[in-house]
Amino acid sequence: MDSKTITTSIILSLILLCNPSIAQQQQQPVTPPLAPALFVIGDSSVDSGTNNFLGTFARADRLPYGRDFDTHQPTGRFSNGRIPVDFLALRLGLPFVPSYLGQTGNVEDMIHGVNYASAGAGIIALSGSELGQHISLTQQIQQFTDTYQQFILSMGEDAATTFISNSIFYISIGINDYIHYYLLNVSNVNNVYLPWHFNQLLAFSLRREIKNLYNLNVRKMVVMGLAPIGCAPRYMWEYGTENGDCVEPINDMSIEFNFLMRYVVEKLAEELPDANIIFCDVYEGSMDILNNHDRYGFNVTSEACCGFGKYKGWFMCLSPEMACSNASNYIWWDQFHPTDTVNGILAANIWNGEHTKMCYPMHLQDMVIQKAK
Ligand SMILES: *[C@@H]1O[C@H](CO)[C@@H](O)[C@H](O)[C@H]1NC(C)=O
Ligand SMILES: *[C@@H]1O[C@H](CO)[C@@H](O)[C@H](O)[C@H]1NC(C)=O
Ligand SMILES: *[C@@H]1O[C@H](CO)[C@@H](O)[C@H](O)[C@H]1NC(C)=O
Repeated sequence: MDSKTITTSIILSLILLCNPSIAQQQQQPVTPPLAPALFVIGDSSVDSGTNNFLGTFARADRLPYGRDFDTHQPTGRFSNGRIPVDFLALRLGLPFVPSYLGQTGNVEDMIHGVNYASAGAGIIALSGSELGQHISLTQQIQQFTDTYQQFILSMGEDAATTFISNSIFYISIGINDYIHYYLLNVSNVNNVYLPWHFNQLLAFSLRREIKNLYNLNVRKMVVMGLAPIGCAPRYMWEYGTENGDCVEPINDMSIEFNFLMRYVVEKLAEELPDANIIFCDVYEGSMDILNNHDRYGFNVTSEACCGFGKYKGWFMCLSPEMACSNASNYIWWDQFHPTDTVNGILAANIWNGEHTKMCYPMHLQDMVIQKAK
């Protein structure tokens, strides 16, 4: 399915209606860029507006989403403010990266990078289907292939190849394969795969897609692990935990995936000439925040700012009235997603391990500054 074609007319009319001023309002990068562009592939952890153009329940295009963002407007980001790739774009000296479906298709709009991430998407194409439309991992890479063709037409093959191989690719996907596939026992998957085998299926599928990107001349990648989703208000509500205890069997799935994926990335980086691939264990970084919340200034650790029911985990965040007045002391923004403050801490860890080490074998800053390979 070519969703770009399908949605083009919708996009054109929406672009006219929506915030033409976002580009001017956002914080201007100060330094000369450390990389030519940032490309983002993933799910709701990094969706910056893709799902605004799709028929899906997984959307963040209404307040209170975005209320603490630079523009104080909803953009499609699943947060009260910024998502990790916003913080990283600024670290790289780049502007915020536009969503693929939200830009006009001009090369100038994509010259600092493109965000293909779609909420609900998983490594398996079917994951998240019960929410409605999404752009799966394979489709996102197909969209990148189209972007690459446009760069080649515009700047020539050599320049486009240099541009892509110096750009940063940020990949954050996999949790929906648990949330919206394995844990729902879709297609009797629980009987077909034990958790450990399902893990392997995911890790090796992601490995194949990373190699596809490599074959498209991508050379600098950040592969994110899975978050402790067993600590998300949604699952603490669903499993009826007391005193904000996390759901350990769910967290164990993230731990096992991260263990395997870190190894897969390490091997792949050795195997592929000139490849710089780092793995960032967002589970480690998130648990450091949860366990040391006082040090970070959080005093609401298990209840979401916006939602309904115990831990605000029962129902999704739908209106400003459902939200707390000030999210800055909260770890969780809604039933699945962290606050802007948490995203900033995680991004700082990815950049240089500022609060705790979570990236292997090096930080993103090391990758862009030293010519690692
Ligand atoms: C998954 O679904 C199948 C039938 O579709 C059922 O036999 C099996 O018990 C389910 N597994 C779990 C763990 O619920
Ligand atoms: C958290 O701290 C803020 C300000 O420091 C305070 O207003 C709020 O009542 C505290 N919340 C809880 C649940 O302790
Ligand atoms: C939220 O509270 C923090 C301190 O606890 C404060 O610095 C910030 O200005 C508040 N934000 C809003 C929007 O009131």
